[in-house]
Order: sequence, then structure tokens, then C-alpha cells
Amino acid sequence: MKRVGIIGTGSYVPEKVMTNFDIQKFLDTSDEWIYTRTGIKERRIADKDAATSDLCVEACNRAMEMAGVKPDDIDLVILGTITPDTHCPAGANWLEAKLKCRKAVSFDVTAACSGFIFCLHVAEKMIQAGANKMALVVAGEIMSRVVNWQERESCILWGDGAGAAIITETDKGAHILSTHIHTDGTGGETLLMPGGGSKTTPISHESVDKGLHFLKMIEANKSFKVAVNRFVEACEEAVKKNGYKIDDVDVIIPHQANLRIIQGMAKKLGTPMEKVYMTIEKYGNISSATVPIALDEAVRDGTITKGKLVLLTAFGGGLTWASSLIKW
Ligand code: UT7
Repeated sequence: MKRVGIIGTGSYVPEKVMTNFDIQKFLDTSDEWIYTRTGIKERRIADKDAATSDLCVEACNRAMEMAGVKPDDIDLVILGTITPDTHCPAGANWLEAKLKCRKAVSFDVTAACSGFIFCLHVAEKMIQAGANKMALVVAGEIMSRVVNWQERESCILWGDGAGAAIITETDKGAHILSTHIHTDGTGGETLLMPGGGSKTTPISHESVDKGLHFLKMIEANKSFKVAVNRFVEACEEAVKKNGYKIDDVDVIIPHQANLRIIQGMAKKLGTPMEKVYMTIEKYGNISSATVPIALDEAVRDGTITKGKLVLLTAFGGGLTWASSLIKW
């Protein structure tokens, strides 16, 4: 089997910060409620003229710079997103054009908050199969455009940003030991964007009046328990597959949906929170982009160094859940 690795990471978050105090000015909520229920203090909001591909361009350029590769070295661009610039063409096609990756084929993967690990899985398999040599795996979201800013149960959770990694066959760099992806379509109703697809096209006055174009979370407190269990299953699957125990893992990078979900996961795994890398306080939940942004920040701030065993894990709408074990 070819040794597939990560040779560069990059991330980007917009400059504009929206704090809980900003939100409580226009919504019946409070910093105290949001922080104690979720662990979030603030999130980033994209400029009104920016599209998801613009955020991704910044993250990708930083990843390519770290890896020392040029756009023409890339032959595969896979974008995880639920907020592409357009649904047709794919968000990845716009990104490929903006980056001038002229030799690459590009496509989107829709797996909500698990998007980045799903993309990593696809890239790893395509490189192992010999179909591609150098992949740009990226996840980016402008969640602030698809949430209903009047719906206090959900709008307080989300933020905007992008993260990327360069994946290739290599003897050096971080070694992707395995990737694991799962879905359960019967849980699709719990987190969805009901409008804009074939079920509700053409988009009508009525569908917009009903707010069907917004992201909906149904019984979010029920998906809480499911999320904890799926995170734990995915983590255990990845370590077991490679003959390790959870205790052997140095850094866990989970998708950041809610601090209490992550604490529940750590407790069930028997892992101290010190091993769990956190960004939720400053960024909230950036869906698919949360994991690669945290990964890049952990690499750049020295949390992840050569030889460390790193576990990525995510859970999201679909339902989807995933994990990857990487020897840095
Ligand atoms: O990315 C993966 C997908 N994400 C998820 O699966 C999200 C998982 N769920 C969660 O993170 C949490 O369930 C939430 C943060 C969404 C909600 O927290 P909770 O502790 O489950 O609260 P709750 O929904 O049970 O609501 C408790 C109370 C309710 O009032 P009553 O009925 O007890 O009077 C809500 O109306 O809190 C109220 N509430 C709020 N109050 C102030 C709900 N949202 C707010 C708010 N500010 N923003």
C-alpha cells in the first residue's frame, strides 16, 4: 500500500468578529446562556462580497506555501462544503479556477460537519489507487449566509472560515494511517437545509416565506447524545484499526459543535481534555471547516510536532461521522 501523507496545512478565518454580546443586541439571548450551553464566545463573519471559494483560496495558498508546491503540481481538488458559491457548478470548480490549478480535476463532497475527513478519505484512496498524485483537500463554509438570524436555538452556533491540506504519496511528512467514514440517512431530518433542492424547486415566495432556505436543526438536544456516541465510536475504530489504544493518542482534533459534546466524548473515551484541541470559544461551529482549521492551528502553534499521534474525528448532518489517525 502506498504511504499517503500530509505535507502542508493552511487555514483562513475572516477578520470580522461577532461576539455573543453583539448577538444579544438583536436577539433574545445572552452571552451567559450561549457560553455556558455551548462554550462559544465569538465567531468570524465573512465580508458580504466574499464567497466560500474566496475563503478557501486563502487557506489553500497557505497550505501550498507550507508544502512548497505550486498550483500546477495539484491534480485533484476536493472541497467539503454545504455552502458552495453555487450548487452548479460545484464550489470546487470555482476554487480550481481562482487558484489556477490548471491540471486538476475538482469536485465537492457534501458531508456537513464531517466534510473534511470525507474529502481526506477520498483523496487518500484516489492516491493509493494511482489515479492522482497531489491533492488539495479543502473545506470551507460561510454559515452566516444560511442560518436564520432570528432563530436563537441555532444561529448562535455557527461561523465562517476555511481550512486545507496537501495530500500526496510521500516518505516524509505526516502519515495518514487510516480514514473511516460513515453515514445514516435515516437521521437526515435532524440537521438540514430543506429548500433549494429538487424537493422545493423552483424556489418560491412561499418557500422563502417559510424560511426553507435556512439551515434547520430539529430537536438539537437529541442529536447531542447521538453526537457523543458517534464521536466515541469513530475514535475507537481508528485507534483499534492501527493497533493503538486511546491513551497512545497525543492530540485529538474533534469537530467543534458544542463544548459539552466534546467533554462528553472525552469522558467516555477516558481522555483528559488537555489532549483535546479546542477552537470553539473563538470560532464556534464552522461545519466542515472546523477540523482543518483546528488541525492547521495546532500544527502552526507547535501542539502537533513530528512523531505525535493525531486523531481527527467529526459528526454532522446526514447523519455523517468520521475519523482519521495520522502519525505526524
Ligand atoms: O455540528 C453537528 C450538529 N450540531 C449539533 O448536533 C448541535 C447539538 N446540540 C446543541 O449544541 C445544543 O442542543 C444547543 C446548543 C443547540 C441547545 O442547548 P440545550 O442545552 O440542548 O438547550 P435546549 O434546546 O434544551 O433549550 C433550553 C432552553 C429552552 O427554553 P425552555 O424551553 O427551557 O424555557 C430554549 O428556548 O433554552 C432556550 N434557548 C435559549 N435561550 C437563550 C434556546 N436557545 C437559546 C438562546 N438563548 N440562544
